[in-house]
Order: sequence, then structure tokens, then C-alpha cells
Amino acid sequence: MTTRLDHDVVGEVLAALDTAAGKADPYPHYARLRSLGPAVTAPDGRLVVTGYRQCAALVRDHRLEKRPELLLLGAGHDNWRERPSLRLMYTSILVLNPPVHTRLRRLVSAAFTARRVAELRPAVERITAELCERLEGTADFVTEFAFPLPVTVIGELLGIPAADRPMFQTLVRDWTMVLDDLRPAVVDQADTAAVTIRDYLAELAAARRAEPADDLISALVAAQDGTEALDAEELVTMAALLLAAGFETTTGLLANGLLALLAAPEQAARLRTEPELAAPAVEELLRYDSPVQLVSTRSAPADLTIAEVAFTEGQRVIGLLGAANRDPAVFREPDRLVLDRAEEPPLSFGGGVHYCLGAPLARLEAQIAFPALLSRFPGLEVAGTPVFREGLALHSYTSLPVTTN
Ligand code: HEM
Repeated sequence: MTTRLDHDVVGEVLAALDTAAGKADPYPHYARLRSLGPAVTAPDGRLVVTGYRQCAALVRDHRLEKRPELLLLGAGHDNWRERPSLRLMYTSILVLNPPVHTRLRRLVSAAFTARRVAELRPAVERITAELCERLEGTADFVTEFAFPLPVTVIGELLGIPAADRPMFQTLVRDWTMVLDDLRPAVVDQADTAAVTIRDYLAELAAARRAEPADDLISALVAAQDGTEALDAEELVTMAALLLAAGFETTTGLLANGLLALLAAPEQAARLRTEPELAAPAVEELLRYDSPVQLVSTRSAPADLTIAEVAFTEGQRVIGLLGAANRDPAVFREPDRLVLDRAEEPPLSFGGGVHYCLGAPLARLEAQIAFPALLSRFPGLEVAGTPVFREGLALHSYTSLPVTTN
């Protein structure tokens, strides 16, 4: 039961989390929330969940529904379907419920297969080696590595020509701001970006429909589930989400992860010499500073209890995955980076029917990139102040100066 006094504290902590400094280092604020219990009610009625067990249960419990319109209407966007950025994001698979979600997930899974991801390994190794060249001396890790690696990989996968890929860095960053910030000026800028992304992908899909290639866009065009296929808008919405999710989050994993490794040299030294540590190390880096810190579009359709937390009908829920990943009830010394932890898996990829579709791809890229970077550059260190990309839904850096010495 949250008392009146707790309400005030929750309001204060959420306000602190909503500042640039709070988003850059949310962990002390999460700890304050957690001290009030694994789930607390915000002054506006939302349920804010910080406990690992409770977050794990809520992302898997499909009695909770995705209700993005509550978020959008709450922010004053009654006409959200007419706003290109909001329509492209908030009609995507990410925010749909079964059975509509099930149909789309089946179609995309038929195209985005484990085999297609596994086949990318040699390409990821080659691109990683090429990008390492760009880091010699002093360089910006985000510009020269953390952005181009995933954007090249998802670009190759989708079939976006190499020359067109660089423009998506700013376009996707502007569009995906609508996951964190729904103020009118932000949505205006996101709309401009979304129109360019949408029209580009529609043209690419039309070209592949006329002449199929061996890429994911062609596979999405061809994807069939019985007599079902994706219609033109569904296809573009899916491709846009894959493109955005394909690099914005992975850029975050690479940048947040490198920063964490450089701040814990004894852990970095282990990864440099023990290649078998690559897989658990990536799980720990995902846990330690997750590029996705929260999921926020779920709501309770009726009064219900999940993992001993009471949800009331219509209540909106925020699952703070980044807080759950540091829950001391599950992780010993949660604020320490320990690459070979053998505890619960991090919640950074979510769970249940919405479990991240790109998790195998993100893992493949990070498991190749971190050992390659550390062994190629034993003297790698931070060479300036990192610039944070302000956000919690997407939590990463826009700049990270490094030197290889
Ligand atoms: C470190 C990198 C990544 C992280 C931390 C991450 C995180 C997440 C999370 C937390 C969700 C679930 C959201 C929810 O339940 O509300 C999700 C869903 C999704 N992710 Fe990722 N993601 C990453 C990389 C990728 C990549 C590389 C791709 C595509 C190539 C991708 C595509 C998707 C898609 C399509 C969904 C929606 C799935 C659905 O709703 O059925 N993600 N991701």
C-alpha cells in the first residue's frame, strides 16, 4: 500500500528521473524508488515497477494490454493517427496485442529467421575489423563504430544500399524521440524524419516487389501465413521498426558497454584474454546499463494481481527494466560489473510475446565487437566527456571520444 508520504517521494523521484542528469544516471533514483517497494503508485496513478521478479512477470503476463493511445491521448495527441511519426511507431508490432500481434509476429518471424542472422557472422566480423581501423588514434566511438556497425548490418540485412545508410542516423534518432518525449516540437521534428523514412522504405519495397533480391525487405514482401501477407502499410511500418530497433538500441549496447568496460579495467582484461567470456559478458553489459530502460505502454484491463502486485482496472504501468536489472534481491552487488555472473538473465530484451525479435542479432554483434575492440586496442581509454542521448526508453550516447594510445 502506497501512503500519501510515499506518493510525494515517488513524484519527486520521477521528476528527478525526468531531468537530463536523471536520465544519464538513473540508478540512484531507482534505488530510492525500490526502497519504497518493488512497485509504487505515481501521483498521476501510474504503477511504477522496479522489482526484478515483478517486472519479469509483468512483461510476460498478457492479461496486461498494450494501450499506446492512453499515452498519446494523455499527452494531448488526439489526432495521433494523422501524425506520421506517431502512426509509424504506435501502430507497429511493438504496441499491438494478440491476435493482430500474433499474425504480424508470425509473418516477420518467417522472414527474419535464425538462419538469416547466423549467416551474418562473417559479415559482422569483417565490418568490425574494418571499423576498428577508424578508431586508430583519437576518434568518436559512436560515430566511427557504435553507429556504423549495427546500421551496416541491418542495412545489409534489409537491403538498404550502402550510400543511403548514413542519413538514417539522424532520421532514426529524430523519429524514435517519440518513445521518450511527446512534446509538440519533438513530434514536429519526428514527423519530418518519419515521412522521409516511410517514403524511402515504401519505394524500396516497391522496387523489391518488382524485382526480388536476397534481402529481408524481399522476404517481408514474400512472407505468407496461409493466405495472409503484409499489406503495404504494415510492410513499411515493420521495415521502419526493424531499421530503427536494428541500430538505435545496439548502438546503445556498444557505447554503454564500452564505457562500462573501460571503467572496470580488471573486467576488460579478462574479456581480452578469455574469449569464452564473450557471451556472458554481453549479458552482463546488457544488465549493467541497458540501452532500453523501460517499457511503458501496458495497461490493466481489469483489477488483477501479478507477482503479488495489485493492478487496478485502467491503470497504466511502467516497467523499469533498468531498475529490475539492478535489483539486489536477485543480483549480488548489482552496481558492480561482473562479467561471469551466473544469476538471472537481464530483462533488457523484455519478455513474453513481445520479447525482442532482434536479440540474437544484437548479441551476435556485441559478442564479436567487444573482444575484437579490447584485443586490438589494449590501451583503449575515454578521451573526453561522453555526450548522453537524453532518454530512458532509449538510453545511450551520441558521442563517446576515445583514444587507442
Ligand atoms: C541491445 C539491443 C536491443 C535491445 C536492448 C532491445 C530491446 C527490446 C525490448 C525491451 C523489446 C520489448 C518491448 C516491450 O515489450 O514493450 C524489444 C522488442 C523488439 N525489438 Fe529489440 N532490442 C534490441 C535490438 C533489436 C534489434 C537489433 C532488432 C531488429 C533487428 C530489434 C527489433 C525488435 C522488434 C521488432 C521488437 C518488437 C517485437 C514485438 O513486439 O513482438 N531489437 N526490443
